[in-house]
Amino acid sequence: MITFLLCAVFTLLAILPLVLYARNRYFIDDLRQAFTMLRIGKRLVSYKKQKPLYTIVDRFLDKVTEHPHKTFIVFEGSRFTYSQADKESNRVARALQAAHGGLEEGATVALFFGNEPDFVWTWLALLKLGCTVSLLNSNIRTKSLLHCFSCCAAKVLVAAADLRAAIEEVLPTLQEQGVRVFLFSEDCGVKGIESLSDKIQQASDQPLSPQLRSNINMKSPALYIYTSGTTGLPKAATINHERLWQSSFMHAISGVRSDDIIYLYLPLYHSSGMLMGLCGAINEGITIILRRKFSASNYWNDCRKHNVTVIQYIGEIMRYLCNSPQRDNDRDHKVRLAIGNGVRADTWAEFLHRFGDIKICECYGATEGNIGFVNYIGKIGAVGKENFLHKMTFSYALVMYDTEKEEPVRDSRGFCIKVPSGETGLLVVKIGERTPFTGYAKNKQQTEKKKLRDVFVKGDLYFNSGDLLRIDNEGFVFFQDRIGDTFRWKGENVATTEVADLLLMMDCIEEANVYGVKVPGHEGRIGMASVMLKENMDFDGKAIHQHVKDYLPSYARPRFIRIQHDLEVTGTFKQKKVKLTEEGFNPGAIKDPLFFLEDKEGYVPMTQELYNAIADGILRL
Ligand SMILES: *[C@@H]1O[C@H](CO)[C@@H](O)[C@H](O)[C@H]1NC(C)=O
Repeated sequence: MITFLLCAVFTLLAILPLVLYARNRYFIDDLRQAFTMLRIGKRLVSYKKQKPLYTIVDRFLDKVTEHPHKTFIVFEGSRFTYSQADKESNRVARALQAAHGGLEEGATVALFFGNEPDFVWTWLALLKLGCTVSLLNSNIRTKSLLHCFSCCAAKVLVAAADLRAAIEEVLPTLQEQGVRVFLFSEDCGVKGIESLSDKIQQASDQPLSPQLRSNINMKSPALYIYTSGTTGLPKAATINHERLWQSSFMHAISGVRSDDIIYLYLPLYHSSGMLMGLCGAINEGITIILRRKFSASNYWNDCRKHNVTVIQYIGEIMRYLCNSPQRDNDRDHKVRLAIGNGVRADTWAEFLHRFGDIKICECYGATEGNIGFVNYIGKIGAVGKENFLHKMTFSYALVMYDTEKEEPVRDSRGFCIKVPSGETGLLVVKIGERTPFTGYAKNKQQTEKKKLRDVFVKGDLYFNSGDLLRIDNEGFVFFQDRIGDTFRWKGENVATTEVADLLLMMDCIEEANVYGVKVPGHEGRIGMASVMLKENMDFDGKAIHQHVKDYLPSYARPRFIRIQHDLEVTGTFKQKKVKLTEEGFNPGAIKDPLFFLEDKEGYVPMTQELYNAIADGILRL
């Protein structure tokens, strides 16, 4: 009898995996992923318990102790060890402290840098002082720069030497506001800009007391990162220490190991470069090959030269790499893992075919969002994979969305309706203890706009991601579209209202409606504006070109302008974009006058030849 029972139990145990596998063939991967997430969750809980709080800077200092002579950053032929980076940041902290007595715990300092080691040292220095760091996009100028700077109420600005001209443009306004400006140069001779490099050289590199940051807790803001979210002007998303930790674990979740070497060229002022990239690397104590910006021609040479094993990407990058001329040594590299977001299924397949067996780990998440998905299976085209732990931990749903009215569909009782599995819906995530939404700095209105109430029961509160997703019956998550007032182009979010406001500054423009249109063979959408001219005024393409060049980074400039007699609005006076977006920029289909922004010539009339060249990929945008 006993033998029979034992046999039965063994048989059951033996076939159990088979049964589970038959029900879910990703069971083992799901289980492994769940264990990884639990392990990370445990680490986070232990960090939370420590007093004073264990922050990313403490992690960095632990790594300095663990391996002082390991290379931390390689940049343009220079190599900095963990210990050197530590000392360098001590110096910056002391120099800033000496120059500005008010730089203490809780103060906000804005950084205006491109990717370079000084950026990293200054960021570390400010964290050591317990300051909150606001990361300005180094492409923005004049009005946008001032707007972003004032979002976070910083009274100090530290800038890279090569951005001096951009600073000088806004200096009078900064001075009016009593802002102290520091520049990474020896001396500057401009009243109102203080040099920093000379002071850093004289400063001591002795460690700073952890007492300086002893009151920081998980909810204290660590960073402000600018995002246009899905609506309106750029806003400063508040990244508190808890959020910073969560994002920095993305590397570990994706399988980065302590012996990896990461290639980092994505801007450090964005969340993918800063949180996933830099903070993730510090978390694992690995070496970073830092580059000022992406270069398709140097990409694989850099990877080979530095034995890079992990790369981070955005979808466009993968396409640029696939579009670069084929070489015999395309597969000669040590890259084993690529982490990022937004690669299209066809590019993904081509990338693997061409560059070899690299695990691509697509992730979904927004800077200010309160949920993330990771496609740890590597299924082509998916941005994530659900598993049981995910579903237990987070409360989220895809709900039906009305693209004409641009709002979720509500049933007769006024509640949202979940879409059936496999259908597209708007991702909403319950705002709660585990999924907090920290919102935007000093912008209650925009923070409120991202919240959705009475979703499934009266009084509940959800984060409106603004993204349309689809989840299939195996739990794979697919990105479908982004709604609202932004679109993505070249990996950057473009706020349509910001561009429209700029166009309205032109004498000849009465009204402007800005939206993104799809271009064959490109990720994202390119900027297009439909404008109504003032009575008896002509389209002044030259002036508009100069204007957008002065005020907007290249990715945000409208590449197409359509002239309409009047602009359609919805019942609630919102501009109608859906139809315009669908109509695109084909002169064969649109009877209105159309213009195309040529790099050199400015706005020129759109022709069928131009359209064909763009559609065929001969003219690259
Ligand atoms: C890369 O790896 C090779 C072989 O393992 C080694 O000889 C070389 O020194 C490494 N290069 C760098 C820059 O570490």
